[in-house]
Amino acid sequence: VEHLLGIKYLKPNDIDVIFKTADHFKEVINRPIKKVPSLRDITIANLFFENSTRTKLSFELAEKRLSADVINFSAGQSSVKKGETLIDTVNNILSMKVDIVVMRHGNVGAGVFLSKHVNAKIINAGDGTHEHPTQALLDSYSIREKLGTVKGKKIVIVGDILHSRVALSNIFALKLQGAEVKVCGPTTLIPKYISSLGVEVVTNLKKALEWCDVANVLRVQHERMDIKYFPSTREYTQLFGINQEILDNLGKKIVIMHPGPINRGVEITSDVADSSESIILNQVENGVAVRMAVIYLLAQQIKR
Ligand code: CP
Repeated sequence: VEHLLGIKYLKPNDIDVIFKTADHFKEVINRPIKKVPSLRDITIANLFFENSTRTKLSFELAEKRLSADVINFSAGQSSVKKGETLIDTVNNILSMKVDIVVMRHGNVGAGVFLSKHVNAKIINAGDGTHEHPTQALLDSYSIREKLGTVKGKKIVIVGDILHSRVALSNIFALKLQGAEVKVCGPTTLIPKYISSLGVEVVTNLKKALEWCDVANVLRVQHERMDIKYFPSTREYTQLFGINQEILDNLGKKIVIMHPGPINRGVEITSDVADSSESIILNQVENGVAVRMAVIYLLAQQIKR
């Protein structure tokens, strides 16, 4: 693929290649010298029109570990505030000889739009409620690391599916790799089209957790929420919050994931998030190696 705009544009073999490359970079970043000189001649712009902690820092670190030159842009401190358009903003940045653009934007399809209008490789770091492809890749990579494979594993995605780009990208990625996927949450936070993706809806959390090998727990996205979709926070936690007592009563161990940021005490309690069943910080660690792989593979297509 020419860009990484979404998991829906990938084939199973693309994911295999990314993971094999990430295996190599994971070994590299555990060496005393964590850098390789591979992208000394590449310049990357990280454009964040929405807030981020993990994705922004993880991309920046991945780029620096590959020895690329890096520039960072946050819309809040930029001339976007004076009315400059997305295309003008990006073309001005590209005129400084930028090869790859990593972009997070609040609008669905912003990455696709950019890829049609500017001459650079585009990596989607999250576009509205649509896709967050590198998050899904690092999530699958972390499942593969923990359980040996994704194929045949039973994964339940719990929570606010309607507003979640992480959910959609995960569904595409997990299905491509042959996992069984269910979603669990309030019916008001599950989109109608979900069954057309081959995903079953379960509204009983206990049943969903009894079925699964892995629970990927999502944050309730208050910032994208129209109040009519949402039960009260207390109601949500009572019905869909994951706590240690629920896990203890399952009679088996399951793997707990969360893309972050966590609303502690809402969708997951602190004891579960910080337990030995949780791979939340492994996900973050793996994000650097997976993003190095994505950037490295796209950079191989750039003529230099
Ligand atoms: N998982 C994730 O996208 O986190 P940030 O919003 O902090 O980047």
